Amino acid sequence: MLNNLLHMTENAAEHGTQIDFFLEASHWFMLVLFVGWTIFFLYCCYRFWQRKNPKADYVGVKNHASSHIEVYVILIEAVLLLGFAFPLWAKQVNEIPPEGDNVIRVHAIAEQFGWTFHYAGADGVLGRKNPMFISAASPQAIIGLDPNDPHGKDDVVSRTYMNVPVNTPLIVDVTSKDVIHNYAVAHMRISQDAIPGMRVPIWFTPIRTGEFEIICAQLCGAGHFSMKGFLVVQSESEYQAWVESKTPQKPVAPAPVKTPAPESNPEMTPDVGEDAAVAISSVSKS
Ligand code: CUA
Repeated sequence: MLNNLLHMTENAAEHGTQIDFFLEASHWFMLVLFVGWTIFFLYCCYRFWQRKNPKADYVGVKNHASSHIEVYVILIEAVLLLGFAFPLWAKQVNEIPPEGDNVIRVHAIAEQFGWTFHYAGADGVLGRKNPMFISAASPQAIIGLDPNDPHGKDDVVSRTYMNVPVNTPLIVDVTSKDVIHNYAVAHMRISQDAIPGMRVPIWFTPIRTGEFEIICAQLCGAGHFSMKGFLVVQSESEYQAWVESKTPQKPVAPAPVKTPAPESNPEMTPDVGEDAAVAISSVSKS
């Protein structure tokens, strides 16, 4: 009820009901505290008015009412934390990542200022990504998909739009090409930082079809406000049709790279240093 009054975004994820329940309980608790302390404050203003009490009382309050109230507040907070927040977090962390044949794993690659999504394709294996193959030539080249890796040939790469089937567990591996971004879908009750050099998985199951905004929830530069994507939750058949329409018919031409990046660090994961690789390849072309 309070959630609706506060115009909270409608939930569209399986785990969202639990989060909403917790938020609802927290909001009610905050409301009670706010009203309670405001009444107490107004009472004090009246009770200790200077005109009524010209002489200060150096003894002060003798009863322990305020201590008792504090204990109750701590108890309620402990119940919220130990009874709801911790179990919710533990469930999200322990019982998953989801496993099984129906789980869909997508890489979400952030950059200033947009999102690119990488799917494994029919073979179920994601093609290798390498900063050396990064260019603006195609969506595949934008994420540096290695044209020599056979697993990458059938991979689906989509800019801005991340289509998924409804009622299917998803694992999204979030990473970034440049600065720290954040993959956030309010309807799905999820948010995860996109950190260069790291691939951080986040999982959820959409339970409603529709188009939901993916926003960047981390201030990442002048174009931060425009860094949007769309999570399109479809029926299984619509999703299959989308995958088909996106599957490359012929192998993607390799992006021209004249020299290997001499300064590239072999320790880096393939998601790091693309900017350096791009800079080096453009310098070598000029
Ligand atoms: Cu990317 Cu804000």
